[in-house]
Amino acid sequence: MHKKIRKAVFPVAGMGTRFLPATKANPKEMLPVVDKPLIQYAAEEAVAAGIDVLVFVTGRNKRSIPDHFDKAYELETELEERGKEKMLEIVRNILPPHVTCAYIRQAEALGLGHAVGCARPVVGDEPFAVILADDLIDGEGGGSALKQMVDVYEEYGCSILGVEDVPKDETHKYGVVSPERVTDRLWDVKGIVEKPAPADAPSNMAVVGRYILTPRIFDLIENTGKGAGGEIQLTDAISDLLGEQRVLAQRFQGTRYDCGSKLGYLQATVEYALKHPELADDFRGYLQNDVCKRILG
Ligand code: UTP
Repeated sequence: MHKKIRKAVFPVAGMGTRFLPATKANPKEMLPVVDKPLIQYAAEEAVAAGIDVLVFVTGRNKRSIPDHFDKAYELETELEERGKEKMLEIVRNILPPHVTCAYIRQAEALGLGHAVGCARPVVGDEPFAVILADDLIDGEGGGSALKQMVDVYEEYGCSILGVEDVPKDETHKYGVVSPERVTDRLWDVKGIVEKPAPADAPSNMAVVGRYILTPRIFDLIENTGKGAGGEIQLTDAISDLLGEQRVLAQRFQGTRYDCGSKLGYLQATVEYALKHPELADDFRGYLQNDVCKRILG
């Protein structure tokens, strides 16, 4: 039996420059897709994977994240007095009661690797998950993307990277792996490089915002210097981990939306609205009768 994955780290201290000015005073993880902020989708994904400690690595302008997960006494009293039972339920059940949140401050945005390293005092000496909330993943088949990865972890007991194939001309946006096939959905990671130019990319298999990592990564992060973009890169620490331990890449079942980019965010909004129980019919009607006619003439 491998140690259970109980904790997930959510690095939310990035600058979100691609989404300015929306991210000037608010973290991009609080951007809503239909009616829920990205960070709540991510927290729900972790809880669905059996995780019960959520570790948020926050930075400046991140107060709204703890506020979102805290009890909102005034709002609850107000909703109660007005008899708004349904809304009250929504506000009260943001997270199930057995889940604990911890907040750590990343004083300076030195990179994703550094942000994950900041979680060490809370994670300690056990394997853990990392979720980047701006990669919103609509899981299919075996449940949420992280749940699928936890299932694989339980079998193999090693670090696992969530991957998908990206167009060759987009490799410079991702960590890209050098894969060796194990099964239809799993590969041994033989190498990994951050943001390679298409000509230098070892493949088009890119890491997308979901990781299961062994605690050894914390030692390696401490010895990782600045890499691509002058940031302390998680990818570089994973590259060192490969020399010591097995690391797998898993192609999860589901659709990923890059909600850190405006186009990806809009795509997610349309797709989630088309599935939303209260909105789907009206929104589909609007797209068909107004938008399509206008675009197609
Ligand atoms: P991104 O590469 O998406 O950077 O970070 P960003 O700053 O958030 O957004 P852009 O590119 O400027 O628009 C990947 C993840 O790592 C976190 C971010 O919050 C995001 O979830 N991160 C990045 C940190 O927590 N700290 C950092 O120092 C850097």
